[in-house]
This record gives sequence, C-alpha cells and structure tokens, in this order.
Amino acid sequence: MGLSEYYKDDIERVLISQTDLNNRIGEIAMQLDKDYKGKNLLVIGILKGAIFTITNLLEKMQKNVDLDFMTLSSYGDKVRSSGSIKLVMDLDRNVENTNILIVEDIIDTGLTMKWLLDYLYKKKAASVEIFTLLEKKEGHKHFVNPKYVGFQIPNEFVVGFGLDYGQYYRNVPYIGVLKEGVYKGE
Ligand code: PRP
Repeated sequence: MGLSEYYKDDIERVLISQTDLNNRIGEIAMQLDKDYKGKNLLVIGILKGAIFTITNLLEKMQKNVDLDFMTLSSYGDKVRSSGSIKLVMDLDRNVENTNILIVEDIIDTGLTMKWLLDYLYKKKAASVEIFTLLEKKEGHKHFVNPKYVGFQIPNEFVVGFGLDYGQYYRNVPYIGVLKEGVYKGE
C-alpha cells in the first residue's frame, strides 16, 4: 500500500468541496428540524466514518436531540465490502418506541444499512430514518431507501470527511477521489 505522508499527494481530485458539504448539510439540518418538530429524536452516529458528518450536522441543527453511537465495520482495510458486518460497539440502551435517525457517511452496497435497519426494528424502535452524506446508487446490492441524502456520487473510491482507506485519509477536509495507484494490486 503506497500511502504518502501528506494526503494531497494521494488525491486524484476534489469531488465535493468543504463549502458544498457545509451548505448541503445545513439544508438537511433545517429539514430535520422541521420534520421532527414536536417529536423526540435519537440520533445514532455510525462510527467511524460518519464522525465528521455527525458533528457537522448536529452543530447546525437547532432541535434538542439525544445522541448515541454504534461502531460497525465491514470493509476493514480493503476497498471492497467483506460482505459481513462486524458489530464493534453496540448501543447501551433500550430503543423501544424511540424515533431514530441513523447518520451514515456512505451507502455503497447497502449491506451495512440493511443490517442495521433489521437490528433496530427487532429492538422495536418506533421509526427509523437514514441520513447518508453520500450514496453510490450503482453500488446497491441490498435495497435501502434513505430519506435524507447529501450527494449521489459515481462509483469511484472516495476518502475524506471521515471516510478512510486503510484507516487513513479520514482527516481530509473534503470528499476526494483516491488515486488508483494507492490501492492498486490490493
Ligand atoms: C463504511 C461506511 C459505511 C459502510 C457503507 O464503513 O462507513 O458504514 O462502509 O458500505 P456498504 O453500503 O457497502 O455496507 P467501514 O466498514 O469502512 O467502517 P468505518 O466506518 O469504520 O470506516
């Protein structure tokens, strides 16, 4: 794996700028404030990838929300899903009769979200909606229908704003396309 010390050397191009990310997440925050007006809301951030999206969204929302986290992993250090979900950190609470908003960084094959929806409905959540910052429509093998989508993106390997390759590049402050040479031969 050819990771360089400075992320810029490994980025092919900027796909979504920081300004566009901020503006779009701001629009979604306003929409969520409206849609959940007068209702209780538990926001569940899916670590690690969604960390930037969660903090950016919550600082823009005005509604008083309850916040929790789960850690799910399926890619490990690879560019393709392993096909199985590892529950690394579970919720430590009862979600029965709770309105839940899942905050996710990307839906690619849809496996992670399908697994999580089944999981939360088995725990008798009252409602579960998804906000995903990015959606790769082409990648969907498992049908999921997120209500809130930041951006539809092409089928390219992207990093930044929380998204990683081999646990690196999460701190790139925009969404960038990773140079193929970085992961070629994997
Ligand atoms: C990534 C991402 C999503 C999931 C999407 O997680 O954060 O949770 O993959 O892919 P899918 O739609 O094909 O299931 P990853 O396993 O890389 O863990 P991470 O969030 O810690 O990076």
